Amino acid sequence: MSDKKNEFEGLESLDRRQVIGRRIVWHEETESTNDDARRAAEAGEPEGLVVIADLQTAGRGRMSRTWTSPPGQDILFSVLLRPDAADLPKMPLIAGLAVARTLDAFTDEPITLKWPNDVRAANRKISGSLVESGSSETGYFAVIGTGVNVNMDASGHPEISHIATSLRTLTGESVSRREVMRKLLFEMDRIYSSPERMDTLVSDWSARLETIGQEIDVRWGGEFIHGVAEGVDETGRLLLRDGSGELRLLEAGEVTTQLTGQ
Ligand code: BTN
Repeated sequence: MSDKKNEFEGLESLDRRQVIGRRIVWHEETESTNDDARRAAEAGEPEGLVVIADLQTAGRGRMSRTWTSPPGQDILFSVLLRPDAADLPKMPLIAGLAVARTLDAFTDEPITLKWPNDVRAANRKISGSLVESGSSETGYFAVIGTGVNVNMDASGHPEISHIATSLRTLTGESVSRREVMRKLLFEMDRIYSSPERMDTLVSDWSARLETIGQEIDVRWGGEFIHGVAEGVDETGRLLLRDGSGELRLLEAGEVTTQLTGQ
């Protein structure tokens, strides 16, 4: 057993949150926090569980990509939620908006969102989320898995150095993972636990979307679509005008995007 310290100890009882982070489990190392949260969900765990890891040995990104982060430098966590079925499509939006609001408190750099759920600063990605859902005996569940680059030095990772940044890179200073996590749990809970905030979630989130008005390439299942992003609907689906002039409605979970020319 390593005697590595849990930097997140005691966050459960802070800030009068209602749901998210009622129970927090920290691993020095795990395969993927999304898998840990899913297993807990299938075993009947109530919503609000947060699983955090200092290192993932099989961290996953969207579209079967891997998620790389050096040990103990960034934030890697998953939240288990049991929303009403009607709110399931909004789950991918919660993390993006909460991360953006959190990062606002740590840097002056404008924080934007790239559809469906990349968080960006200085033209680079600083956070991403992978939302997975399922059902257990107690009903539907969603696992929101999020990675936030806090202290990593992307320049030391050639495979992502040209596309990624971190809070430390933006500010020039090492940043407390505990303080970022604390604020992040607060912001996620503030959105999820209040009906009014769930109602304004899509409009607050879309106000930060840099994708609207841009020409993008989208992989939709096996199909590649080129078009102009015209907006999002009331559940966060992208309205994409394709080359033939048809308006397509794309769900966040299914696609990967690239700005044309990037
Ligand atoms: C993406 O941008 O492609 C999504 C990245 C999601 C990474 C996080 S890190 C914590 C959680 N566990 C995982 O295996 N993936 C998510």
